[in-house]
Amino acid sequence: MDRIAVIGAGQMGSGIAEVCIRAGFSVMLIDQTVDLVHRGVAKIEQNLDRQISKGRLTTEEKQTCLDKLLPTTNLNEVQNADLVIEAIVEQKQVKEELFAQLDVIAPPATIFASNTSSISITSLAAVTNRADRVIGMHFMNPVPVMKLVEVIRGLATSEETYQRVIEVSQRLRKEIVEVHDFPGFVSNRILMPMINEAIYAVYEGVASPKAIDEVMKLGMNHPMGPLELADFIGLDTCLSIMETLHEGFADSKYRPCPLLKKYVAAGWLGKKSGRGFYEYRSGV
Ligand SMILES: NC(=O)c1ccc[n+]([C@@H]2O[C@H](COP(=O)([O-])OP(=O)(O)OC[C@H]3O[C@@H](n4cnc5c(N)ncnc54)[C@H](O)[C@@H]3O)[C@@H](O)[C@H]2O)c1
Repeated sequence: MDRIAVIGAGQMGSGIAEVCIRAGFSVMLIDQTVDLVHRGVAKIEQNLDRQISKGRLTTEEKQTCLDKLLPTTNLNEVQNADLVIEAIVEQKQVKEELFAQLDVIAPPATIFASNTSSISITSLAAVTNRADRVIGMHFMNPVPVMKLVEVIRGLATSEETYQRVIEVSQRLRKEIVEVHDFPGFVSNRILMPMINEAIYAVYEGVASPKAIDEVMKLGMNHPMGPLELADFIGLDTCLSIMETLHEGFADSKYRPCPLLKKYVAAGWLGKKSGRGFYEYRSGV
């Protein structure tokens, strides 16, 4: 297992590609346009340069890493992959269409892992003819910094697939926690309702975003406030996760806050678009 295709060169895909090349894997980084792929590569280079400035990486090591990276818009490159890690937008239908396409292109033995935050791995597996080789590999943001990978088996995921993904995660020096296939898994079943509640507090005029974040940081010892974190994750992703929880559990306690919907409709997606609950000088 040496060749990994990462699909989606956004915040998560670029981070996943970065940890993979640093662990010595050959990586194809795939997105829809040349600009999007370049944005992902630029982010990787920026992070590697930061490591050089901290004395944790040499210029030669940076080059060795970049030599392992193939940035491309050609999905057919997955023909050469042992493992595909999907990190595209958090939309079930879009992911299902991609998985069906990948199933036709990739060799039968290739494992498909999804970095989805909330969508059923069993459903993604069901659109392929390799349900035993589909699994959830949920990295945390920022990928090069955060230790955890939530590993989620779909109903039909084989033990062999699970073991191979554990081996890859260990090579990436990540800590693995196995969870079952339920909407939002563990991380977002707990985190996202808290973020949504913080948005309700803004919506209802309980306090300003800054005040809410200060309460959670100073009072609860959270390293980031929930609204700062929501901006960092991406408000479109937060909304999609809440919708998956709401639909999946059919429970009104997961209804997304109307203010979250309004921000996403306005294109205020958080840090990546330059504006969310806070304003940012430049995007990602
Ligand atoms: N943002 C987070 O904190 C976080 C954390 C863990 C997991 N995730 C999950 O990771 C995934 C990606 O999130 P992100 O924050 O990187 O989003 P993002 O918006 O930064 O990036 C998504 C990328 O996918 C690309 N894309 C969309 N459709 C595509 C397709 N059909 N083929 C190829 N590329 C396509 C887009 O062009 C974009 O570059 C989502 O499933 C999200 O839920 C996000």
